[in-house]
Amino acid sequence: MDLINQIKKLKKEKNAIILTHCYQNIEIDEVSDFVGDSLYLSKMAAKTDAEIIVFAGVFFMAQSAKLLSPQKKVLLPNKNSGCLMADMIDLENLKIFKQKHPNIPVVCYINSNAEIKANCDICCTSSNAVEVVRSLKTDKVLFVPDTYLGKYVESKLENTKVITFNGFCPTHLRIRVEDIEQARKTYKDALILAHPECHQEIVKRADFTGSTKEIMEFAKNSSCKHFIIATEKGVVDRLNRDSKLNNWNKKFTLINENITCPNMKKNTLEDIYQTLLTESNEIILDKEIIEPAKNCIEKMLQLKTN
Ligand code: 13P
Ligand code: SF4
Repeated sequence: MDLINQIKKLKKEKNAIILTHCYQNIEIDEVSDFVGDSLYLSKMAAKTDAEIIVFAGVFFMAQSAKLLSPQKKVLLPNKNSGCLMADMIDLENLKIFKQKHPNIPVVCYINSNAEIKANCDICCTSSNAVEVVRSLKTDKVLFVPDTYLGKYVESKLENTKVITFNGFCPTHLRIRVEDIEQARKTYKDALILAHPECHQEIVKRADFTGSTKEIMEFAKNSSCKHFIIATEKGVVDRLNRDSKLNNWNKKFTLINENITCPNMKKNTLEDIYQTLLTESNEIILDKEIIEPAKNCIEKMLQLKTN
């Protein structure tokens, strides 16, 4: 039996599901129950009645699934797949950041580890960051860890100052202004779609900025036939596949060949099979952070954004 069928058989035997982020290697979709962005997958993790969740994504995503379904076994296929941005903030520098700006609500991007979430007021994803900050009805917020998503949120709100921590995504920051200029020259009729983790100079020049889900929906619904995608390669691979499967007759080009997240790409089908077989790489959370970190995510989910 091939690996794909072995994984499917194991899933049935063990009452397991596989949640897959759109930045994963595309062949993983074949064994996945749900494929999407971080907001969608966190909602699916909260809803499922499977006993085991295999999270094909990065560490903070699997941790978030565990927070939302603490009674389930959550497994990460490759234990080295962490998010470089999430690892840029720890409890010590969060404390210093809060002390420097006292008495201001703290919003944390879902791309953060559980102990950070446990010490923030509310979580957001790139799909709902603007709505989450707006819901606080305050003139100032602290935003961790992504400085660029924080600045993007501020640009969308009229009366809110967003004070950002200095984290960033090394993958999205590899997209340069020259890439945009080159794409404009080479592909005159294409639209450029960017993720808000990109530098503001990229966001300023893009035709549309949105989360993974928003980019995919925009591309699907637009009458344009060619799109330059300024985010991770997995999004381009899935859009080109869906275009072929559904006869959209649309083409998607990655803005620059280097835009892959090395940690997202660490998970392989073999890792998924081994993890499920041996039930290894289980996410275990410290007891004292479960409640506050879970509250931080649930407050976001209760807003029913997107
Ligand atoms: P989404 O929230 O759009 O899924 O993005 C997650 C991420 O890690 C982007 O780099
Ligand atoms: Fe983290 Fe960037 Fe990879 Fe997203 S693309 S998981 S933010 S390192």
